[in-house]
Amino acid sequence: MEKRKQIYEGKAKIIFETDQPEYVIQYFKDDATAFNAAKKGVIEQKGIMNNKISTKIFEFLQSQGVETHFVKHLSDREMLIKKVEIVPLEVIIRNKAAGSLCRLLGLPEGRAFETPILEFCYKNDALNDPLVNEYHIRALNFATEKEIAFIKESTFKINDLMRNFFSRLNLELIDFKLEFGRYQGKIILADEISPDTCRLWETGTGKKLDKDRFRHDLGNIEEAYKEVLSRVTS
Ligand code: TMP
Ligand code: ASP
Repeated sequence: MEKRKQIYEGKAKIIFETDQPEYVIQYFKDDATAFNAAKKGVIEQKGIMNNKISTKIFEFLQSQGVETHFVKHLSDREMLIKKVEIVPLEVIIRNKAAGSLCRLLGLPEGRAFETPILEFCYKNDALNDPLVNEYHIRALNFATEKEIAFIKESTFKINDLMRNFFSRLNLELIDFKLEFGRYQGKIILADEISPDTCRLWETGTGKKLDKDRFRHDLGNIEEAYKEVLSRVTS
């Protein structure tokens, strides 16, 4: 597989073409942003750790029948993936209250719910990824009815799988964000799954082991990512 020119650069990753049109390389950077890039910084070795953590989680999900864009871990910072057309939605599941939901509804952090909450945000940095509902998604054709149904069903299934996966590692999955892509007429899981895109609290102590350490200057950021990596690869 030959790496060719860069085709996209986001806040945390870069995408490169390869000599095969159906595959691209996803390169993980150490750059970290929060609050739609109002806060910027670097988390040393983050790219390497998130590439490994994402690899483990995609491999686990695939072993459980979830189709993903993941093909292969190539090197420290590079993963080979299927080239998808990203559905312009950030799909969030919340198992307990944290982050923007606490601000939106005035809830205390850690508040439990009767059922998990699924949210859609329109993926648009200029608009600050606004919260949207299924009517917006249909009316503006961000996804079809069928795609929305598939995405919701997959996301709840992935929540069950990932909650179990992390709970075996003594980590509580508080919330996370997924992105999906269109590939050969199907919807598959894309992007990354890492402490950048999940909130993970240590079981028992409640210690935050995710990007909230960066967002809120809690210190020991690299150590938190390293801790998650070591549990995920144990
Ligand atoms: P939030 O509470 O800030 O809305 O975040 C919910 C979850 O989604 C949390 O696990 C972090 C993740 N997330 C991303 O992966 N990317 C983003 O741009 C945002 C805002 C959140
Ligand atoms: N990644 C988002 C940003 O752009 C937000 C976040 O993860 O908090 O800054």
